[in-house]
Amino acid sequence: MTAVDQGVWAAPGRINLIGEHTDYNDGFVLPFALPQRTVVTAERLDRPEWSVTSTLTGETVTFDLSEPVTGWAAYVAAVVWVLREAGHDVPGARLSIDSDVPGGAGLSSSAALECAVLSALADLGGLDIPVEQRPSLAQRAENAYVGVPCGIMDQSASTLCREGHALFLDCRSLATEQIPLDLAGQGLAILVIDSRAPHQLVDGEYAARRAACERAAELLGVPALRDAVLDDLSRLDDELLIRRSRHVITENARVLDTIALLREGRLREIGPLMTASHASMRDDFEITVPEVDEAVETALAAGAYGARMTGGGFGGCVLALVEAEKAATVAEAVTAAFAARGFHPPATFLALPSPGAHRLS
Ligand code: GLA
Repeated sequence: MTAVDQGVWAAPGRINLIGEHTDYNDGFVLPFALPQRTVVTAERLDRPEWSVTSTLTGETVTFDLSEPVTGWAAYVAAVVWVLREAGHDVPGARLSIDSDVPGGAGLSSSAALECAVLSALADLGGLDIPVEQRPSLAQRAENAYVGVPCGIMDQSASTLCREGHALFLDCRSLATEQIPLDLAGQGLAILVIDSRAPHQLVDGEYAARRAACERAAELLGVPALRDAVLDDLSRLDDELLIRRSRHVITENARVLDTIALLREGRLREIGPLMTASHASMRDDFEITVPEVDEAVETALAAGAYGARMTGGGFGGCVLALVEAEKAATVAEAVTAAFAARGFHPPATFLALPSPGAHRLS
């Protein structure tokens, strides 16, 4: 590949239609990319040094990887580090970062940053990194350098999604299939409700869920919960592990059922699967909070076909499948319900399946 001296690259946030906490269990996910994205303007430097400016705060962090980098710039340093680890000759660079992916909302602002920086550095260095290898590199950057034990969904979505499609990803084989998601063509919309309840992956709850799943798989004698079926649960005597496992097993099945319906163009019928996914996250996986439960219940009462929380949990966003013409009414109903319960006002917007990471100029 020919190296370029400078350019502008973008990578999007994502929302997950269904398949939550299944990725690190070797299971199935169905995310799509959002129009909200991180944009990196970059130029190559002739020395092994990286200078990163956030256009949001005006802050600049400069590093050469001789010392660990912390804070938001760690996500950038992590990508430099992982590419070097993989044997690539990463060029020094000056990078300026802008983003309209809301942080802490479960919409993968971290993956958007990692994937945009990875695209920029790959092109600046003329590095030959096939696109299908990029999600694993970005995930490893986050796992090993930043220290967040995330799965591979977010980086895959931010890299591989296509406009107008959801990405069916088998997190074991990493096989992908682009599933057409023509919401507008069917008069539908996906309303996103950002609960604005704080969401933190690093606070230990995510890691605890992951550890419980790994323990259950070990006790069942399977490589991952992907390989377990509901009947196996009678072999576990820990009630908590039974519930955690049941979420993963039933959620994988819901992803496959959703895809079968989408392939037949029966979009409205995925609603009950989305709502069942939420109930499973609330009751079995225990990762919801009152704000997101309220958003789901109110959206359903206001006429949504289905609604569920998306992302790691403990706050963040809900997505609701609605008739396009009803989206504003559902959003207003949720806003009113939040006010009545004394919650922070939610933010709402419509999610359009958008393209994955690419060079803008
Ligand atoms: C976060 C992680 C993902 C995935 C989801 C839950 O977004 O980064 O890997 O595990 O939570 O589905």
